[in-house]
Amino acid sequence: MRNQIVCNCNGVSKREIEAVVKGGHYLLPEVIRCTGAAGSCGRCRPLIEEIIADYLMKQQTFQTVINWSGND
Ligand code: FES
Repeated sequence: MRNQIVCNCNGVSKREIEAVVKGGHYLLPEVIRCTGAAGSCGRCRPLIEEIIADYLMKQQTFQTVINWSGND
């Protein structure tokens, strides 16, 4: 569910967070500043960090496959 709400206090969805991360904001403070998430109770911070980590891990895997393919 990409459009699930991650930050209930501020109504920020997973999709919104992913869009910011895909836009090159990989640091938690940047994501918070751009989305307004985690600006209240902060309980959503671990979820936001997880979304960032998932994206970066997928990017790293993709880049590794590209590099490996290019060395044939
Ligand atoms: S759930 Fe995000 S600040 Fe409270």
